[in-house]
Amino acid sequence: MNELRFDGQVAIVTGSGRNLGRAYALLLASRGAKVIVNDLGVGISDTDGVAAAPRVNPAYSVVEEIRRAGGEAEVSLHSISDPDGGRAIVQTAIDAYGTVDILVNNAGVVRQGPIEDMQDSWCHDLVDTQILGTVNVTRPAWRVMKENGYGRVVNVSSGAAFGIPGMSLYGAAKLAVVGLTRALSLEGVPHGIRVNVVAPYASVRGNGFGRYKASPELADWLSPEQVAPLVAWLAHTDCPCSGEWFTAGGGHVGRATIAVSDGWMEHSHTTEDLAAHWNDVMGRPVDFRLEAPGAFTAARRMFEGFVPPVAQTPGQIRNVSAPAHPADAD
Ligand SMILES: NC(=O)c1ccc[n+]([C@@H]2O[C@H](COP(=O)([O-])OP(=O)(O)OC[C@H]3O[C@@H](n4cnc5c(N)ncnc54)[C@H](O)[C@@H]3O)[C@@H](O)[C@H]2O)c1
Repeated sequence: MNELRFDGQVAIVTGSGRNLGRAYALLLASRGAKVIVNDLGVGISDTDGVAAAPRVNPAYSVVEEIRRAGGEAEVSLHSISDPDGGRAIVQTAIDAYGTVDILVNNAGVVRQGPIEDMQDSWCHDLVDTQILGTVNVTRPAWRVMKENGYGRVVNVSSGAAFGIPGMSLYGAAKLAVVGLTRALSLEGVPHGIRVNVVAPYASVRGNGFGRYKASPELADWLSPEQVAPLVAWLAHTDCPCSGEWFTAGGGHVGRATIAVSDGWMEHSHTTEDLAAHWNDVMGRPVDFRLEAPGAFTAARRMFEGFVPPVAQTPGQIRNVSAPAHPADAD
């Protein structure tokens, strides 16, 4: 197959100063896209929101990296959580390169804890970046794409959208992004705009994953580069789908879905009738494994072939679909 390229196209990748966003920006740029590397340069999104921001915004070094490799990139330091910031990010692309073809809505912060411990500011941070941030950049980019009759938007969800204790609002926000994606995919049909969403898995904060403890081997296996090919494919002209949701990590790519069972139907039934037919309502998975809250079904395949450090015994390894602490997954 010929290399899938983005020559002449302009891509915005939000939050691309580090980790997953950086990997997306580097891959798109290496395939010919001119990239706006957007990052506010806040502290790494760990669990408590207090990690120190770097002294120099990491977006600069990603732009340098792209240019050194012969690619084209410009920096944007605007915040996605501010509607004016969203407009300024898109304006940066227009001023530098005249248009926007691809938008990857990657930026966002993680705030987690038991629901009763969630602080007001954490709730605002989550809604402002994970939901409104995606909306704030998409709105101005959409106008350009609509005028062009072409666009690709890749949004970012999370395995937390399936339900992880301690990540309730984060997961809710990431499921909101799925709803947004599905509605926008329909709005985009008459304008040649396709919108899809990715739930990535990457070990970028020195974190473990379920039964797998943090290790260089795990970080390498679950690296951002294992997710980037899917994002690039969804950003490509040839990718046929829109409104779809995927999981990606460690080399595994799966399609996630929102499903309704065939169910049970009887007009004017009683509660007792319903209780008697409950198995019919619940239905049976056919081609899909149902993602139960807290169970990372995708993790089963994501670790096929992974060789953990010797310190982790086979007994610890087998049970990856039931993380000891599911929040380790993000
Ligand atoms: N790492 C994972 O396994 C994982 C899993 C599921 C979902 N995600 C999602 O993927 C995305 C990237 O994850 P990551 O682990 O690379 O995160 P990260 O925290 O390492 O990087 C996110 C970047 O976004 C930037 N950012 C934060 N707020 C911003 C704002 N208001 N405006 C512009 N930039 C801002 C940060 O400065 C940071 O560089 C996030 O949306 C995250 O929720 C990650």
